[in-house]
Amino acid sequence: MTGKLFVIGTGPGNPDQMTPEALGAVAASTEFFGYFPYIDRLNLRPDQIKVASDNREELNRAQTALIRAAAGVNVCVVSGGDPGVFAMAAAVCEAIDAGPDDWKSVDLVIVPGVTAMLAVAARIGAPLGHDFCAISLSDNLKPWEIIEKRLRLVSEAGLVIALYNPISKARPWQLGKAFEILRETLPATTPVIFGRAAGRPDERMLVMALGEAAAERADMATCVVIGSPETRIIERPGLPELVYTPRFLKDASR
Ligand SMILES: C[S@@+](CC[C@H](N)C(=O)[O-])C[C@H]1O[C@@H](n2cnc3c(N)ncnc32)[C@H](O)[C@@H]1O
Repeated sequence: MTGKLFVIGTGPGNPDQMTPEALGAVAASTEFFGYFPYIDRLNLRPDQIKVASDNREELNRAQTALIRAAAGVNVCVVSGGDPGVFAMAAAVCEAIDAGPDDWKSVDLVIVPGVTAMLAVAARIGAPLGHDFCAISLSDNLKPWEIIEKRLRLVSEAGLVIALYNPISKARPWQLGKAFEILRETLPATTPVIFGRAAGRPDERMLVMALGEAAAERADMATCVVIGSPETRIIERPGLPELVYTPRFLKDASR
């Protein structure tokens, strides 16, 4: 019999946004595999073993966890946010797909979590109230030309866009270029939300018009949500503005 291989998400960083199901998986596991800042979010018992690794080592980490689960150990692979959104659940599936046959029999449990765009959206109103999509701006695993094409198509389709991995030291220009592309299709007044570190003590929410949106406002801990032409801002006296996308489409020609 194999051990269980849990793949969990810690949520965006606020301990209250980690689900009871994910906490149950933590309690049931003895070995933990993940990027160290995510593993450090867990309160582990002395008998529970951390195997922290760097990002970019996802496939290797997934393979090591599968080896341990196949050997009968209950293991937990840890992501931030939701494990299925640009995270470890896909890496584990890739490893199973390409790995030895016995990995297909491992008792795999993928536990959903609160993904960054949901945490950002809830903080600012309801920008994801109508149709939306999520795009990782990282061109580490796909060519930049594909990202440009997708940005053009989804903005023409009128979708709200949540951009994950918007910028990093190694990818300094991509977000600015993405804004340029989106300005070709979307009105300059379209709200852009820079949702940084949602749910953490260093959280910062900023709303700018697309015409003025500057890539320097984002960092690796930011999820950038670009509204659709329907997205609206409600100014509130003495309170932060609300950004929302109505459930109905006023202009059906869009
Ligand atoms: C590799 S992706 C992982 C996404 C994660 N699995 C999720 O579901 O949120 C990392 C990106 O998620 C976004 N992110 C993660 N935590 C965040 C937070 N607390 N606030 C805003 N964005 C966050 C950022 O865009 C960051 O570059």
